Amino acid sequence: MIKSICCIGAGYVGGPTMAVIALKNPHIKVTVVDVNQERINAWNSENLEALPVYEPGLAEIVAQTRNVNLFFSTNVNLAIHEAEMIFISVNTPTKTYGIGKGMAADLKYIELCARQIASVATTNKIVVEKSTLPVRTASTIKSILKQSQNNVQFEILSNPEFLAEGTAIVDLLNPDRVLIGGDYHTQEGKNAIAALTDIYKNWVAADKIITTNIWSSELSKLTANAFLAQRISSINAMSAICEATEANIDEVAFAIGKDTRIGDKFLKASVGFGGSCFQKDILNLVYIAKTFGLNEVADYWEQVIVMNNYQKSRFARKIVQKMFNTVSGKKIVMLGWAFKKDTNDSRESAAIDIANYLIEEQAELHIYDPKVTQQQILTDLEKATNQTTNQLQQQIKIYNQTTNIFQQAHAVIIVTEWDEFKNLDYATIKTQMQQPAFIFDGRNILNPTEITQQGFQYFGIGK
Ligand code: NAD
Ligand code: UGA
Repeated sequence: MIKSICCIGAGYVGGPTMAVIALKNPHIKVTVVDVNQERINAWNSENLEALPVYEPGLAEIVAQTRNVNLFFSTNVNLAIHEAEMIFISVNTPTKTYGIGKGMAADLKYIELCARQIASVATTNKIVVEKSTLPVRTASTIKSILKQSQNNVQFEILSNPEFLAEGTAIVDLLNPDRVLIGGDYHTQEGKNAIAALTDIYKNWVAADKIITTNIWSSELSKLTANAFLAQRISSINAMSAICEATEANIDEVAFAIGKDTRIGDKFLKASVGFGGSCFQKDILNLVYIAKTFGLNEVADYWEQVIVMNNYQKSRFARKIVQKMFNTVSGKKIVMLGWAFKKDTNDSRESAAIDIANYLIEEQAELHIYDPKVTQQQILTDLEKATNQTTNQLQQQIKIYNQTTNIFQQAHAVIIVTEWDEFKNLDYATIKTQMQQPAFIFDGRNILNPTEITQQGFQYFGIGK
């Protein structure tokens, strides 16, 4: 039975996943390591509000397990040395250089982990791929681990993570399934699969723990994200048709969602999907398909991204067009910056592209998000606009609350569906704004009839 786990990568996956494993396996010592000292300090912070990842329910679990059987450290070598099982949860971003630039997954962090494990390990280890990886990455990891001079055996498993940010803890506590890919033809492979299964069995029903071969497991993760993102692009494509025809996308989604073959989840039309994974994973899939000469397959999946980019720019263009074709010098309030509600993550958020577009059109942006820090918003904008903070500050202002943000504004744009934006006092806000007062609801969270009755010019998605 496993008694000691190490997880390399203390990010949005490593942190919450290991916190739940530690909670449900009090007999296992779980050490999460990272090269980023600041991040580890934040995980160890006394102040639970300062944890590097915001997820409902996470702080409570960390409070219960930290320094009991859950530890955060930068001593990667020691944690590898002590562990019987090592999860690799490092980032696998899109390559920004060389072959496959802009498409393939950058596996340099994965390779570094494998090399470090190979050089440090002096006892047998089970190495678990938790990061999302191109199919067949396990064979690369295996080749590197084989080079170890220390006469140790490594067994490799794929155990992709399916949690969604904002609901990570609920997803981890009650997963639809746990997927374990391994070499089930050998006794060593079977033992490794059983060891990981035992950890999950402490809280996940046995029939939800699925075993496949390692390649199916790696590919299933990319496939799941591709299918999920495709649904959003599909409903967003229909939202453009709705706007041209007076059909209503929420009604269409409700009507088709009643078909049990289609189902009602993940059909919310929006300003476009964001997040660190959908785009990166689909581009990775497109690259893999191209590598095998499967150009039609590659083109098919690439359209999901094309459609998402179209949805973001369509929304931004609509704002300018409805505001009499100019936003130059106009005060626009952006509500939300995170890529979805209940997270402090803004990676690939649609907010970034929309803000960039409006800055280019010389709008004055007044931005508020309940969880994304001011520094993060500035960093995102510096990257997107190629401007310095000083230059940006001519055109943007970031708030840590909504008091006073609406004074003399020409328009309000809802970019993230935070619950608190549903319950603002829009009647009062209207009186504070310039007239006509515009609301662009990129998440369809407001009631168009009520908002219009209050005198706003209201524009949602697909209606
Ligand atoms: P992240 O960027 O939040 O965290 C990765 C961490 O790994 C960083 O803190 C980084 O410093 C650390 N790291 C990188 N190389 C290292 C090394 N050699 N040694 C020690 N630490 C190292 O990334 P994330 O969002 O947690 O995603 C991790 C992986 O999980 C990705 O492959 C992603 O596709 C996948 N995934 C993410 C989510 C999600 O919701 N974010 C969900 C499912 C799967
Ligand atoms: C997604 C998947 O849902 C997870 O299963 C997966 O583990 C994860 O990617 C990953 O591999 O990283 P995540 O990106 O955290 O999770 O969040 P989602 O809930 O999938 O939302 C992604 C984006 O799509 C957000 O911008 C969200 O607002 C948008 N979205 C989602 C819609 O526009 N409409 C919907 O109906 C659902």
